[in-house]
Amino acid sequence: MTISAGVPVRDALDSAVVAIGASGSESPRLDAELLLAHVLGVGRQQLVLDRDLVVAGPQIRAYQDLVRRRAVERTPVAYLLGTRGFRHIELAVDPRVLVPRPETEHLVEAALGLPHGARVADIGTGSGAVALALADERPDLRVVATDISADALAVAGGNAERLGLQVEFAQGDLLDAVDGPLDAVVSNPPYVEDGAALPPDVARHEPAGALFAGADGLDVYRRLVPQAAARAPFLAVEVGAGQAGVVGALMRAAGFTGVQTHRDLAGIDRVVVGIRTSDDA
Ligand SMILES: C[S@@+](CC[C@H](N)C(=O)[O-])C[C@H]1O[C@@H](n2cnc3c(N)ncnc32)[C@H](O)[C@@H]1O
Repeated sequence: MTISAGVPVRDALDSAVVAIGASGSESPRLDAELLLAHVLGVGRQQLVLDRDLVVAGPQIRAYQDLVRRRAVERTPVAYLLGTRGFRHIELAVDPRVLVPRPETEHLVEAALGLPHGARVADIGTGSGAVALALADERPDLRVVATDISADALAVAGGNAERLGLQVEFAQGDLLDAVDGPLDAVVSNPPYVEDGAALPPDVARHEPAGALFAGADGLDVYRRLVPQAAARAPFLAVEVGAGQAGVVGALMRAAGFTGVQTHRDLAGIDRVVVGIRTSDDA
C-alpha cells in the first residue's frame, strides 16, 4: 500500500482492504477500519461520517505499519490495537494471552444465574475475560481466577486494576492454587488437538499453552472435570466443535447429574454445564 501526504480516508481504506484481503483475512474492511480509527483516534463511524477526514503526517506511516503487520505477519487486530471488547468491558490484550472470543461470552451467561454471593473459580483466566466480566456483571460474586502462566496473570491483574474490578488471582495447575470452599467452577481451557491446522493469525501469534490439549484436545477436561466435581456443585466449560458429547459424559461420570449444553450464535454446542444438587449426594 502506498499513501502520499494528506490521503482521504476512503482511499487509505481501499488500499488497506485490498492488502489485508489478499492475505486471507475474513474481515478485511472491518480490520482496515478498526486500524485506521485507532491511528486517527476516532470512532469507526466517524470514518464514514466525516468526509473531510484525511490521513496525514506520521499517521500515514503508522497506518502503513499496522496494515503490513495485519496483512503480512497476520497479527490479530486485537494485538495491534492492544484491546478487545468482551461483554461490557474493554480488556488489554497482547500475545501473552488468548484474544477473548465472542463465543466465550456464552460461558459468562451460563454463570450469571449463580446464587447471590457464590464463590466462583475461573480456571485458565488468560486476559481475565470471564472472571472480570462476572465481577462486572455480578459484583456480589466472589471470583477467584487462576492460570498456569505467570505472563497471563500479569495481563489479567493489569486488567482488573484498570477496570477497578475485584478478583483474586492465583498461579497454578487447574484448581491446585484455589483454597477454600467453592460454589462453582467456570473454564475456557485449551481444547485444540495437538498438531491441528490453525489459521496463521492463531498459530503464529496466540500462546500455544492456551490452545493445545493433547492428541484429541480433551486432556484438560479429563483432569479438570473430576477436580471440579470434587470441589463444587456447578461446572461450566467452553468446548470446541464436536466435543460437547464427550465432555458431558465426563461430567456425568464425575457425578454431575444435570448436564446441559448451550449453543453459540453459529449453532455449535459451545458450553457444557454440569450441576449436582444436594439431593444427589
Ligand atoms: C483458551 S485460553 C482461555 C483464556 C480466557 N479464559 C479466555 O476465555 O479468553 C486457556 C488458558 O488456560 C491456561 N492454562 C493452560 N493450561 C492450564 C492449566 N493446567 N492450569 C491452569 N491454566 C491453564 C492458559 O495459560 C490460557 O491462559
